[in-house]
Amino acid sequence: MTTSSKIEFEASPASAGRLDTLDPLERFRDKFFMPRAEDGTEAIYFTGNSLGLQPKTVQEYVVQELKDWEVLAVEGHLRAKHPWLPYHEFLTEQMARVVGAQPIETVVMNSLTVNLHLMMVSFYRPSGKRTKIVIEKGAFPSDQYAVESQLKFHGVLSPGFSRQPPEGGTQEENQNLIELTPRDGESTLRTEDIIETIERHADEIALVLLGGVNYYTGQAFDMKAITEAGHKAGAIVGFDLAHAAGNLELHLHDWNVDFAVWCSYKYLNAGPGAVAGAFIHERHAESFDLPRFSGWWGHDKATRFLMGPEFHPMRGAEGWQISNPPILQMAALRASLEIFDEAGMHALREKSVKLTGYLEYLLNQIDDERISIITPSDPNERGCQLSIRVKDSDKHLFNQLTSRGVFADWREPDVIRVAPAPLYNSFTDVYKFSEILNDSVS
Ligand SMILES: Cc1ncc(COP(=O)(O)O)c(C=O)c1O
Repeated sequence: MTTSSKIEFEASPASAGRLDTLDPLERFRDKFFMPRAEDGTEAIYFTGNSLGLQPKTVQEYVVQELKDWEVLAVEGHLRAKHPWLPYHEFLTEQMARVVGAQPIETVVMNSLTVNLHLMMVSFYRPSGKRTKIVIEKGAFPSDQYAVESQLKFHGVLSPGFSRQPPEGGTQEENQNLIELTPRDGESTLRTEDIIETIERHADEIALVLLGGVNYYTGQAFDMKAITEAGHKAGAIVGFDLAHAAGNLELHLHDWNVDFAVWCSYKYLNAGPGAVAGAFIHERHAESFDLPRFSGWWGHDKATRFLMGPEFHPMRGAEGWQISNPPILQMAALRASLEIFDEAGMHALREKSVKLTGYLEYLLNQIDDERISIITPSDPNERGCQLSIRVKDSDKHLFNQLTSRGVFADWREPDVIRVAPAPLYNSFTDVYKFSEILNDSVS
């Protein structure tokens, strides 16, 4: 994940236009529907980190499945243009390329938090002294809830535990959760501190579970180094890649990550509530003795329809499937992944480094000491997103941006997140945004 940051920028519309002309991915913008601002012009859409834009091919792909259902009904499972029975398999190779995995390690199924639970059921195995989970403090709430409920589920946290002290009682300590916290006065974590914590608690940690990119700060973690440190300590290492899949170049297989989960409605542009992904390293492909929550779709394909009473899981990530999948959602994802394949993660990341670098450069020109960027300035430690802290701000500034056609998002107490996505955002979008922000603060 090493990226050079030596790029010369200039703050002018002509310079932004020049960067667009030189952009080898410029033509991809036209493959997406761009929302409109109130005045009818194209909006500046910087919330691909929340919900990616709709590829123009999605309708055709979804309508094909509706047609096959209309005409073939149940026979669509075998006779649809893209038969529904093996439909998830049509997504595997492309999704594997997005996250740097082998096909055997990749499956598209369920939604993100559900997959996180399924992975923890199998890979969080507290035993003896080794019972702790390491997460980042301020991890996305769903991850915090999932982890806490897994600690309870595995019987290492009392079922009634709450972060709020009981009235008149004393606060129970959650001894099995290690939360990584930035140093005083800092907003993001240092890799050396993450590793030091893992080393310090080496024989107590069962699982290290971090986001690939923190949703709030936009910090990208050094997944290779963290995985190495976790393994050296004897722990399992997993990542929530909600903000990393389709954003960073990932090498999950080579980094030796044990498992990872992600959603595909953000950078992967597969639509609201889109079906999610999971990675399980090849070395666990035949770990049939791991406990798992089973269902018929994870059963060996050759004998699934013999309807036998005993579960025989498939090799690899597919063996963690439970239910037959949502074809309409998968059709949308198929349309989107074809675009990723055409562009390639390497080229996307190259553009993204420039695009976000340009945004950072322009933001740094704004002469207002209330504004600071909390995302790391090293491109190796971030993806598309910059998180802008607005000191002493209520939501006023953010509302002004919205009224001027900017799609950004606000995270309490004082952060505006903006994420130019290399598939459909331009350098001109970035320039216009900086002008609007500059106007709005002055
Ligand atoms: C980092 C992270 N984890 C988990 C989730 C929850 O995802 P889902 O609702 O798909 O389970 C999100 C949603 O935005 C997220 O950003």
